[in-house]
Amino acid sequence: MYDFDEEIDRYNTHSQKWDGMEDAYGVSPEDGLAMWVAEMDFRPPKEVNDVVMEAARHGIHGYFAKPEEYLASITGWMERRHGWTVQPREIASVHGIVAGVGKALRAYSERGDGIILFTPVYHAFARVIKANKREVVESPLELRDGRFEMNLERLEANLTGREKMVIFCSPHNPGGRVWSRDELRAVAAFCEKHDLVLVSDEIHHDLVFPGEKHIPMVLAAPEQIDRTVMMSATTKAFNIAGALTGNVIIQDDSLRRKFDTDHSATGKSMNRIGALMATAAYQHGDEWLDALCPYLARNAEVFREGVEAIPGAKVHPMQGTYLAWADFSGTGMENAEIVRRFQEDAKIAASHGPDFGTGGAQCMRVNIGTTRERVEEAVSRLQRAFGDLQ
Ligand SMILES: Cc1ncc(COP(=O)(O)O)c(C=O)c1O
Repeated sequence: MYDFDEEIDRYNTHSQKWDGMEDAYGVSPEDGLAMWVAEMDFRPPKEVNDVVMEAARHGIHGYFAKPEEYLASITGWMERRHGWTVQPREIASVHGIVAGVGKALRAYSERGDGIILFTPVYHAFARVIKANKREVVESPLELRDGRFEMNLERLEANLTGREKMVIFCSPHNPGGRVWSRDELRAVAAFCEKHDLVLVSDEIHHDLVFPGEKHIPMVLAAPEQIDRTVMMSATTKAFNIAGALTGNVIIQDDSLRRKFDTDHSATGKSMNRIGALMATAAYQHGDEWLDALCPYLARNAEVFREGVEAIPGAKVHPMQGTYLAWADFSGTGMENAEIVRRFQEDAKIAASHGPDFGTGGAQCMRVNIGTTRERVEEAVSRLQRAFGDLQ
């Protein structure tokens, strides 16, 4: 019913992922594979493109009003897909989740405050923290049974008292860990104990593989509702990242008022096309998403099996997302050599591990949100590029 195998040519479409890869990595789109920026190579559900075409047919693209249907699509989705009851007034629309994180930093912290990240983690967090003149406090994830786990005891021992906020990534990018209820509760309890605001970035929450379950932070730890700021969007799951429209859901009135002050100060009118696309995705996207997740899960298996055939290479077992974390530390190679083999030998543009913070030194983040054929091609290129290790 949905053809995720269709190869769609994205060159010369102002695609950062394809048209920007040569500048970013020196890999030509002519014969390279773009496996970096977090977006997929699939068209979204048809209804999403239909609203864009309808808007184009009308032809006037002014400011957006009457968000009731948009808000209802979100509350309906959260109830239906996540068992979470959200009120329309609890939702703020932002121009992307990175923008939302910036606003939250301004709302709940001051210059010089410490902001905790569980690294390796999505690189824009550290960038936005630094750009807002706050300090990144890294809490490195640890490998237990081959998967990431938090070490809150060690984090606690290293606190200075200047920390104001945790930015938590759930599911986790990179690597696709879906955190358990106990893990979520532990982070929330930690935030309570140390009086930290808990920003829970759940942008990947709909990209969860069969058999896995994402639990919204607020449902896992309702006691901490007065310090929890949840962020989500349609953009990752439905592959409409360029629509730059996300939602910040804050259920506590006083916490939400604080966010709203900075939201108003930095621009809060809605993205018209983004809102239309997001509404259509949440209204009509269930079946498409239910078909997509198993496809991604199979891509993850193909990638993991193929890369782990390289002696010393390990891929974290994914529970969700399409952002695989490949760890080459067992090869004994330095990052520069791993990168060289990816870019020059395999002609694959993938994200460099060190950009994600401590823990990423000999790793690469590889985006498998593409056709199976491309994933298979990437695997065989990597096997050749590291062929001398066989
Ligand atoms: C965890 C996480 N948050 C936020 C974003 C970006 O969100 P936006 O494009 O809405 O700013 C990404 C994109 O990769 C992400 O992985």
